[in-house]
Amino acid sequence: MRTLTVDIKDQPYPIHIGPKLLDRGDLIVPHLAQKRAAIVTNITIAPLYLSRLKQTLAASGVESIEIILPDGEQHKNWHTLNTIYDALIAHRCERKTTLIALGGGVVGDMTGFAAATYQRGVPYIQIPTTLLAQVDSAVGGKTAINHPQGKNMIGAFYQPKLVLADTETLATLPKREFSAGMAEVIKYGLIRDLPFFEWLEANIEKVMAREPAAVIHAIYESCRNKAEVVAQDERENGIRAILNLGHTFGHAIETATGYGTWLHGEAVAMGIILATALSENLGYLSNPEITKIKSLLKAADLPTRPPKLSVAEYVSLMAHDKKVVSGDITFILLNKLGAAHCQSSIPPKPLADAISHAAAFK
Ligand code: NAD
Ligand code: GLY
Repeated sequence: MRTLTVDIKDQPYPIHIGPKLLDRGDLIVPHLAQKRAAIVTNITIAPLYLSRLKQTLAASGVESIEIILPDGEQHKNWHTLNTIYDALIAHRCERKTTLIALGGGVVGDMTGFAAATYQRGVPYIQIPTTLLAQVDSAVGGKTAINHPQGKNMIGAFYQPKLVLADTETLATLPKREFSAGMAEVIKYGLIRDLPFFEWLEANIEKVMAREPAAVIHAIYESCRNKAEVVAQDERENGIRAILNLGHTFGHAIETATGYGTWLHGEAVAMGIILATALSENLGYLSNPEITKIKSLLKAADLPTRPPKLSVAEYVSLMAHDKKVVSGDITFILLNKLGAAHCQSSIPPKPLADAISHAAAFK
């Protein structure tokens, strides 16, 4: 097992990464405020891992209630969130009852938001079971639900007490979902860690074959990068925005095509392609660098051709982005491989060119 700390002022918390952590009551129970917990999961994950987690808790004398949600990004909304509150109230969950998110980013984001708001805030733990959640969504305290007009529009910053990434759960993850998680892994190399990007280039086959040592290294390095950024800027007043490389375009794709059509990670991969094209048009990135980025995304079996959206559709959807200030969209751009910055007041032509040129990528 490897362990990192997310060093948030006054509330640091550990991330444990490794095999068989679902069995480790000794890692979970010290973070519970009472011997009662509510496990939130979904209909796909419950038959795979719920009883094992319940047994682990029961072996330490912890009673757990289960809240099983429907599966899918299209259910990340008010209605599903309300079913979590309904169950918490029906089971008389108290302020000291910890919520445990067992699942991918959808379960994690909704459980986190429920925890942030139920009785004005109760503790929660993240047990991520997708690659994307283990490298990104379970870490850093962003919680949210979608609005029909925009991704993650309603939410809160609310940090978990613990992140427990059992890497063996990835054995049951469908191939397409594993690839989607790789978009966020590659993102960390691109925005701030050239050695990690180069390691990924050299080891992509091992990671895609899910060789345990390679996967654990990729998760650890991703979490290390994320934890360092979040510790500097928990509430995204500055540097944390670079973690959104590709997300401004990607969220527009997810909203336009209907939540769940493009997986979040796939939309982020496409967004990275668009952001790198924009970075090239503005004179930051060279063509050989763009080729390397596309090759790595392709090697991770990620899409590199955008859906058929017009420039006007992108611009209209991106106007809802959370990084918009006084109507001006901020983009995350790459200065070079391993370095990113935020930039607003982008002239329309390089943006329109980036979108139309990306449509021609193979
Ligand atoms: P997801 O939660 O929808 O999970 C993907 C699919 O895999 C689902 O069908 C799920 O039931 C299934 N699944 C989960 N674990 C499994 C396992 N071990 N074996 C078999 N199937 C399994 O998607 P995701 O990619 O994990 O998360 C995407 C969400 O995360 C989006 O809503 C996105 O907005 C959010 N996100 C949040 C943050 C953040 O900082 N909070 C960061 C990135 C993404
Ligand atoms: N996924 C972006 C962030 O956590 O800030």
